[in-house]
Amino acid sequence: MRITVLTLFPEMIDSFLSVSIVHRAMERGLLQVDFVQIRDFARDRYKHVDDAPFGGGAGMIMKCQTVLDALDSVEDPGAYKILMSPAGHPYTQHKAHELSTKDHLVILCGHYEGLDERISHHMDEEISIGDYVLTGGETAAMIIIDSVSRLLKGSISDDSPLEESHENGLLEYPQYTRPADYQGDRVPEVLLSGDHARIREWRVAMALKRTKERRPDLYAAHTFTEEEKKVLRKLEMGKIRDVDWEEEE
Ligand code: ADE
Repeated sequence: MRITVLTLFPEMIDSFLSVSIVHRAMERGLLQVDFVQIRDFARDRYKHVDDAPFGGGAGMIMKCQTVLDALDSVEDPGAYKILMSPAGHPYTQHKAHELSTKDHLVILCGHYEGLDERISHHMDEEISIGDYVLTGGETAAMIIIDSVSRLLKGSISDDSPLEESHENGLLEYPQYTRPADYQGDRVPEVLLSGDHARIREWRVAMALKRTKERRPDLYAAHTFTEEEKKVLRKLEMGKIRDVDWEEEE
């Protein structure tokens, strides 16, 4: 997969690309990331990329000409073009999967108070990474690159993502490693039992419990599997221990 990032601050993203799983994906040839410096397309001698908003108001707006010339320089009509914006559609794991199937993503990072709305007419999609405002789209672009690159075939072990938070519409169950007792804080007994059916049941129950408590929106939208329905029935009958629905985490 190829990702081209249009930005005023490529150096913000550069160091992020040099470590961990994203770096390994690049080394393995699964991912190529290029930058286009938007300012290179400014035409005036002071290299302005922004101007005051029509109608007045605070802040500066990125201009059509510089941004769209930068976009044209990519020269790939098949590329899927994303604008990072707090006013975009919410980013989800489902969207990460969808983007990971594209051959070439172009990610445009906005700055200042925003971009001239006409720029969005040239994009395929506007995406927000959450309900808060960042100083620029670069951190949001890194989140897209991170979440997409780990889904590329050959990037991380193929069996690890399926039970993670958000992969099945639920938050993940709690995980523990040695020691079983850390300064009196003990790992739930069921995980030490060696009884795989009970462990599985406990994990499903915990995923449901966590999601219900922490993300009632996800819980309400969830379509329960037969296994989950069975676990819920057992919970109601008090047949699964180590899970207390009333208890605060
Ligand atoms: N740029 C500024 N805030 C943003 C957000 N929440 N998501 C994506 N891009 C942004």
